[in-house]
Parts: sequence; structure tokens; C-alpha cells
Amino acid sequence: DQHRARQKTLEPLQLNHDQLLEVKRRMKVEMERGLSKETHASAPGKMLSTYMCATPDGTEKGDFLALDLGGTNFRVLLVCVRNGKWGGVEMHNKIYAIAQEVMHGTGDELFDQIVQCIVDFLEYVGMKGVSLPLGFTFSFPCQQNSLDESILLKWTKGFKESCCEDKDVVTLLKEVIHRQEEFDLDVIAVVKDTVRTMMTYGFEDTHCEVGLTVGTGSNPCYVEEMHNVELVEGEEGRMCVNMEWGAFGDNGCLDDFRTEFDVAVDELSLNPSKQRFEKMISGMYLGEIVHNILINFTKRGLLFRGHISERLKTRGIFETKFLSQIESDCLALLQVRAILQHLGLESTCDDSIIVKEVCTVVARRAAQLCGAGMAAVVDKIRENRGLDALKVTVGVDGTLYKLHPHFAKVMHETVKDLAPKCDASFLQSEDGSGKGAELITAVACRIREAGQ
Ligand code: BG6
Ligand code: GLC
Repeated sequence: DQHRARQKTLEPLQLNHDQLLEVKRRMKVEMERGLSKETHASAPGKMLSTYMCATPDGTEKGDFLALDLGGTNFRVLLVCVRNGKWGGVEMHNKIYAIAQEVMHGTGDELFDQIVQCIVDFLEYVGMKGVSLPLGFTFSFPCQQNSLDESILLKWTKGFKESCCEDKDVVTLLKEVIHRQEEFDLDVIAVVKDTVRTMMTYGFEDTHCEVGLTVGTGSNPCYVEEMHNVELVEGEEGRMCVNMEWGAFGDNGCLDDFRTEFDVAVDELSLNPSKQRFEKMISGMYLGEIVHNILINFTKRGLLFRGHISERLKTRGIFETKFLSQIESDCLALLQVRAILQHLGLESTCDDSIIVKEVCTVVARRAAQLCGAGMAAVVDKIRENRGLDALKVTVGVDGTLYKLHPHFAKVMHETVKDLAPKCDASFLQSEDGSGKGAELITAVACRIREAGQ
């Protein structure tokens, strides 16, 4: 019957304990391949060094600018840190829209627009022409050689350009600034979103050794032993490694977990066959997985009375926030129907139950996969130190994690289940874009001053 037919289609998306344990095992193997000198080149998850070893000591102060590119919003921020200790932090920020043509256009256009936004922002806060240090949260895979050099390896998520890849983001930004001659910037530190999230807590909570983003894209960083980071010289101490786990599976090692729906989403994405794990777990793609399943059901007469409307065929109609809304516990079915209606989809009561179930299955799998990956990370930290038990804090940021009604809980349960020797607590970042970037800029300034 129809119910059974639908269940059968959803089955491959429902992972059991053993399957998740296998995902964790493979993640660990790939982490090791990424860290090792011999296998690094062919490992999809790059395990990039961040050169982030110093942490803020609370003596930093001054005014800092911050940019944030790569999440839902592009933001420019001004942070004023009064007399040290981060007590008196004052923040102003403004969100700017970046048109899709620019996101898919040339690097020049993109960086021109970014600089125009800074000019506008400085005017907005009454600091036109003032030269400030800048912390640039750049949420894309970069090869960092120092705090102020960051080579873009590839664009991911909603961005696609060719000319910036393999170039230093700081140089690109400086070139445009000099060309426009409107203002000057002092030090520029580039920082990963994940590293920044970790640093924000690292400051107050010494157990915070993992940072995780689960939003438009997904990626963690964690503290690794220097002697395991084979590409960087030195054996002593620890370094924060940016995993870029979005690319996990790009060598085919996850193919037996990918469904026809994942493959369909991947094929029509901006970067086919890249970021395969990210496409199963992050906000930019989950709605589209749901969408593909709903179309499949409808074609087989199992939903919407078998009627495929033009609206239903439109790609991208299900945004992440739709998943969060539809799964909200307090939502009556009538409201689910209203949401569908808002999307231009006429549904019966049964239809809305089915749609909600599909959303649940897709989001649950995402949270479990994310948890399986995280279990590999925390267990690796524990094994690195030869401990029987590890207490660790994970700083988390990103709209999917923060706004979805069940994602966080399912992810936490999975980590607990798959890494029972680790006691992981999760701290949600309050203002991702702000404090952390400034912390890093401040550290950069302090290091520079110390060197003078
Ligand atoms: C923000 C960061 O706080 O979180 C972004 O500043 C990051 O750069 C983001 O990528 C993740 O959230 P989302 O959901 O906006 O992609
Ligand atoms: C994508 C990017 C990565 C970033 C993540 C979360 O996976 O490649 O660099 O950290 O999204 O924003």
C-alpha cells in the first residue's frame, strides 16, 4: 500500500547505530589521511593548519572592524573594546545583501562590492577615513600561512567564481582598497568561522577545544597535537586544525550512504561531486533533499494526489527555515498546511503529515551524521592524550543548529552514543560574527606590537 511504499523509499535515510558507527570510523580514517604527509594530497578533508596557537589574554583593547562572508548574511561590524578584559564591548553592525550575480561573478566585482560596503559602513558609524584593524571571517576553505595570509582553495556553498581561487584573500582586499583610495586598513587577520567560534569560548572555558559550524555549510575545527600535524614543522604543543569535513566523501568513501536524492541534489548544485558530506548535513541542501523526495512521491501518486504543479517543480522553494518551521512541535497540522499553501502547494491533511515526516527523516539523518563525525573528533582528541575519559566543550554556531527544533538534541545524543568515553558539552555561540573575529584581530595586533 501507499504507506509502505513511502516507508520503503525513506528507509535508506534512516541510519542505525552500526551504520553511524561506521561513519564515525571512516571519518577518523579520513582525518588521519588528511593529517599525514603521504596521503594529504589525495584526502578530500584537508585538515588545514590554522596557525592559531596564541589566545587572547584579555589585555587587548581598541576599535576593530570585522567582515563576515560565507554564511546567511554578509555583515560589517565595528567592535569597540574599552579597557581590556572584554568587559566593555560595544558593537555596531550592518547586514548587506550580495546579489547572486556577484556571488557567481568575478572576484573583482565581489571584492569591489565588499569594499563599497566597508566605505558605507564607516560613514554610517561616523568613522569615515579612519584606519582600523580588520578581522575578516571568511568561511571558505583556505590555506593559511599566517594570520594575514589566506589562500582561497575553492569556493563552496552559494559562491562560484574562478579567478579568486589560489589567491590570497588579504591581497585581493588590499588591492581594491588601494585602488579606491577612500580609506586604509591597518592589520588584516583572516579567520575561519569555526576557529572563531572556538576562540570565543576558549577565552572563558579552557575545555573548549572544538568549534563547529552547522549553518549554510558545515565544518569543525579542533585542537590537534603538533606531532600529528605532519605538514607543519615542530613536534611540541598543539594547533587548531580546520577540518573542512564538508568534503568528506568526495573520494567516494560515503557512496554507500548516499541516496538517489543526495545524488540528485549534488548533480544540480554549483559544485557537483564536491562537498558530499556537507550536502547531506547542512542548511543549504536539506530543503532540496526534502524537495526531491516530495517530487518522487508525487510522481508515484503517493502525495499531492499525484499532481505535480509548476510550483512543486521549482528548485529551491524549500529553504532551511522551512524545515525548522514545519518541524516545530507546537505547530498544528493546519499550520503545516498553511506553510505549504504559502509555498503555493495545495495539500490535504494527509499530505501535510507526509511532508512533515519527510522533513523529520532528512533533518534527523543530518543531525546523526553530524554527530557521528563529531564523535570521531572528540574521540580522537581523547585518544591523542591516552585518556580513558575526556571532558570537552564544543562551541557551535550556525542557523541550522540554532533554529531547528530537534537538530541539536539529536546531534548531542548521537555523540554520546558513539563516543561514550567523552563527556562533550555544547555551547551555542551568541553572537558568532562579533566577538571572535575581534578576538583574533586583537591577538594579531598584540603579536605585532610584541614584535616591534
Ligand atoms: C556566522 C558566521 O555566525 O555563522 C558565518 O559569522 C558562518 O561566517 C555562520 O558561516 C554559519 O551560519 P549560517 O547559518 O549563517 O551559515
Ligand atoms: C563550508 C566551507 C567551510 C566553512 C563551512 C561553514 O564547508 O567550505 O570553510 O567553515 O562551510 O561555514
